[in-house]
Amino acid sequence: MRHPPPALLLPLALLVAAGAREAPVSARRSLAWGPGLQAAAVLPVRYFYLQAVSPEGRNLTRSPPGQTLFKVVVKSLSPKELVRIHVPKPLDRNDGTFLVRYRMYDTVNEGLKIEVLYGDDHVAQSPYILKGPVYHEYCVCPEEDPQAWQKTLSCPTQEPQIEEDFASFPSIDLQHMLKEVPARFGDERGAVVHYTILDNHIYRRSLGKYTDFKMFSDEIFLSLARKVLLPDLEFYINLGDWPLEHRKVNETPGPIALISWCGSQDSRDIILPTYDTTHSTLEAMRGVTNDLLSIQGNTGPSWINKTEKAFFRGRDSREERLQLVQLSKENPQLLDAGITGYFFFQEKEKELGKAKLMGFFDFFKFKYQVNVDGTVAAYRFPYLMLGDSLVLKQDSPYYEHFYGALRPWKHYVPIQRNLSDLLEKVQWAKENDEEAKQIAKEGQLTARDLLQPHRLYCYYFRVLQKYAERQSSKPEVRDGMEPVPQPGDDMSTCWCHRKKPSREEL
Ligand SMILES: *[C@@H]1O[C@H](CO)[C@@H](O)[C@H](O)[C@H]1NC(C)=O
Ligand SMILES: *[C@@H]1O[C@H](CO)[C@@H](O)[C@H](O)[C@H]1NC(C)=O
Ligand SMILES: *[C@@H]1O[C@H](CO)[C@@H](O)[C@H](O)[C@H]1NC(C)=O
Repeated sequence: MRHPPPALLLPLALLVAAGAREAPVSARRSLAWGPGLQAAAVLPVRYFYLQAVSPEGRNLTRSPPGQTLFKVVVKSLSPKELVRIHVPKPLDRNDGTFLVRYRMYDTVNEGLKIEVLYGDDHVAQSPYILKGPVYHEYCVCPEEDPQAWQKTLSCPTQEPQIEEDFASFPSIDLQHMLKEVPARFGDERGAVVHYTILDNHIYRRSLGKYTDFKMFSDEIFLSLARKVLLPDLEFYINLGDWPLEHRKVNETPGPIALISWCGSQDSRDIILPTYDTTHSTLEAMRGVTNDLLSIQGNTGPSWINKTEKAFFRGRDSREERLQLVQLSKENPQLLDAGITGYFFFQEKEKELGKAKLMGFFDFFKFKYQVNVDGTVAAYRFPYLMLGDSLVLKQDSPYYEHFYGALRPWKHYVPIQRNLSDLLEKVQWAKENDEEAKQIAKEGQLTARDLLQPHRLYCYYFRVLQKYAERQSSKPEVRDGMEPVPQPGDDMSTCWCHRKKPSREEL
């Protein structure tokens, strides 16, 4: 396991100098909230939010001037317990709010003390005491009561996409699936994996050859099983790009309850958050730089200082992306689009040229972002929505788990699938700056809410729970399945206080 760098501290002299100039923020009146202030909300990266409030009690709507004076110190309550915690500087979201993250590499039994400071003053109810035990991500200590776990994470009571997905499957016949799935989807060149979860242990076998992405499904199921007792279940997950089940509900035979990352209007697959958002959430502050939290502190210049053009960079995975580049060549004053890698349309490279790779955070130097599908939904969409640019979204039959909560003209501006109205829409945005800004803001706020890492866990769990309720026979570990073990964590011991006598002894 990698060692986290020590927490960053601002030099004291700088704090004093900036603090003396003006005090636009009242530490006490400022607000702090979020799952990272609760011991029981175990997440790979724990996080909470700060809202800067003026001495008069008004919320700040932009960053206080100068470098941020918000500072967070997280330490073990007991001097005897050593704990490695990585606490980067709070992310400035450029709207008067800040996002605080920390990753624990050990479990503490006594508890944690979280000091949230503005300059030298404590913010809101700081210091926050999280009574132990406070588990780290790799501690295997599942909460046995799923309801209690869901309550701790403030999971929403409704997930309309899940309701909709399961409406096609009032009951799930495992015996039938065992026969039919290998025959229909078990192609050797396929990407379907068969999982069984029994007594919170995970087993699987691959049906096809292209199942390397099981590393992503493994890691989230293991992570969930460390946190909450999973129901016994047996299911097939499709790790390929395209949803697979195209049978209609009223057909005979009917559709099969297959699980996929991406949905489409003409398929019945039950969807989960994509491997991309899932993996980046699990590996945030470790193996990845772009994740649903880090992006929020890297949204480029303020609205008025963004370049007034629509922007796109990406691979050549769909023909409209090439059209986009062509449009951009003809209308450079409205659009800056480029292909960064050719694979599907290599013959086009000569004509259209290849654009240099750009860091994702730099996308937000532009006011408008074009979202055009790749092979399926473009998995950058959640990140684009979290920026403070206006997203121009290509009409698409494909969707991810959270799209259903977003509305055209409220959260983004829709564009035709064939891009015929793109230039018109960019022009509209330029001429209606206030409205464009409002849609960008509304989209960003909604995405921030929907895409919080804890919501991802809630979503996964609810899908598994719904599925389990509908199984018409008992899940079993099948021939050829292998156990997927929890990763060993020899760096850090953890004693799970929830460990109950095993079932045999009851
Ligand atoms: C101030 O900000 C907090 C958190 O962002 C929000 O819940 C609250 O409604 C805001 N208050 C006002 C008066 O806008
Ligand atoms: C816009 O950029 C200018 C020049 O860099 C800077 O002085 C100004 O503060 C910026 N405005 C906002 C609202 O960030
Ligand atoms: C683009 O799609 C729209 C809506 O489907 C259609 O009306 C229009 O004719 C198409 N334009 C072109 C140039 O194909």
